[in-house]
Amino acid sequence: MGDAPRAGRALGAPCHGWSIEPRLKPVSGSRDSTRNLRRPPADNQGMTKASAKSKTAAPGYACACGYRSSQRFGRCPRCGEWGSLQPHEAGPGGASTVEPRPLCEVGAEPAPRLRTGIGELDRVLGGGLVPGSLVLLGGEPGIGKSTLLLQGLAGLVRRGGSALYVSGEESLEQIALRARRLRVHEARLLALAETRLEAILAAAERSRPAVVAVDSVQTLQADGGGAPGSPALVREASAALGAQAKAAGVPLVLVGHVTKEGGLAGPKTLEHLVDAVLTFEGEPSSGRRLLRATKNRFGSTNELGVFEMRGAGLCEVENPSALFLAERAAGVAGSAVVACLEGSRPLLVEVQALTAPASGVPRRAVVGLDPYRVALLLAVCARRAGVDALGHDVFVNVAGGVRLSEPAADLGLVAALASSASGRPVRQGTICFGEVGLGGEVRAAGAVDRRLAEAAKLGFSRCVLPEASRRQARRPDAPGLLGVRDVRAALAALLE
Ligand code: TYD
Ligand code: MG
Repeated sequence: MGDAPRAGRALGAPCHGWSIEPRLKPVSGSRDSTRNLRRPPADNQGMTKASAKSKTAAPGYACACGYRSSQRFGRCPRCGEWGSLQPHEAGPGGASTVEPRPLCEVGAEPAPRLRTGIGELDRVLGGGLVPGSLVLLGGEPGIGKSTLLLQGLAGLVRRGGSALYVSGEESLEQIALRARRLRVHEARLLALAETRLEAILAAAERSRPAVVAVDSVQTLQADGGGAPGSPALVREASAALGAQAKAAGVPLVLVGHVTKEGGLAGPKTLEHLVDAVLTFEGEPSSGRRLLRATKNRFGSTNELGVFEMRGAGLCEVENPSALFLAERAAGVAGSAVVACLEGSRPLLVEVQALTAPASGVPRRAVVGLDPYRVALLLAVCARRAGVDALGHDVFVNVAGGVRLSEPAADLGLVAALASSASGRPVRQGTICFGEVGLGGEVRAAGAVDRRLAEAAKLGFSRCVLPEASRRQARRPDAPGLLGVRDVRAALAALLE
């Protein structure tokens, strides 16, 4: 997918214009597919009578243009007509004309993706923006969402498209200042400082951009639509923007702020409404920023984009392994380098563990790994490798803010735990990978050669890996490849 050709059509061409009226039909018997965004299908076939009844009883509001909402707006967000939303009962009658079709007869040509030209961003998106898709970009305030968006839109425009950047948070002057700082001077990148949904919809319809971005959903307002930032308004406004974007075949990027607890502010339902959720994270004090997809209907959710925030905006990090290992102190017990696979890319990361005798109930603190996995592997170390830290306080950290979910990271964690508990550092120039089972067995992990190549690139000459994986390597007998079958053998090969 990453090699999908760039958008071949003229971006914003009339075939995907913003004009949606011709596609709409009156509410009764409407087949407008965009309705699916806002409510479950009104098709009650297969339901019990009782549940069907309770469903149909849910009130809603509908406009003659086909727009439907669970909320009453003073003005229809789609057609702009005042007072046109009338209460209606969602009934099964309107859906009776919907006929199922054989799946094999449904044409499904993958649309060309719109690339931003920022490799790290395009890869996390699954190869670029999909026309008509909704992308939610979340992150804490100040992390760099607006910067990433502006740079992404500028990249897209440079490749031949046009884009509309709507900000409800900053004035046009502030946006222009940032654009200058980022050296964005493209004339086809239009900006609008606006919070009113109706005005944004109208502006998008008039300017017919190839991509629309709204920064942020929490600032949107709608006539009669409740307080900005309220869950119902965020959902309804996003649905209205999304419906228009889908009808026009234009990607829509919504920015959403993340709460201190890490959830996307506003309703959780927004995550269901969109096709992809990207989260942008990092320590505000450091320039390092990580972009990952927590949901992606059009790509993998394992991809990781690595950036650095500099004076003139975000820069792609071409060699993240080097960045993650840059501050590593060699020869210290409790540190191990593991070769992981984040999506399609191999990544070397440092797993750190610190064990200390507990005074009272042993404490556990884990950053970057699943705490249950840590508890499990502590028990495996104790029972299968004779390294007992079960009664100790245990602290585990993955350096650089990376979160590891791949089972092949197990051996790195076991090495770090055993190294700290025994006081023996991991041998110089050694990396490892492999899944560890409850019996202490070290299980195979894939993509062996890609992991080994990344290790060699960063000067690591020894690799402790599952014996089954060693046999899969292109050069299984290469010096420095140490295949092991269990954790005891792995630790003997890893620790000094
Ligand atoms: P911003 O994109 O406004 O964050 P968000 O939209 O997520 O709230 O970025 C804010 C921070 O980024 C701010 O602290 C300044 C810093 N920054 C740079 O370091 N370099 C730059 O080129 C830009 C534009 C911002
Ligand atoms: Mg911002």
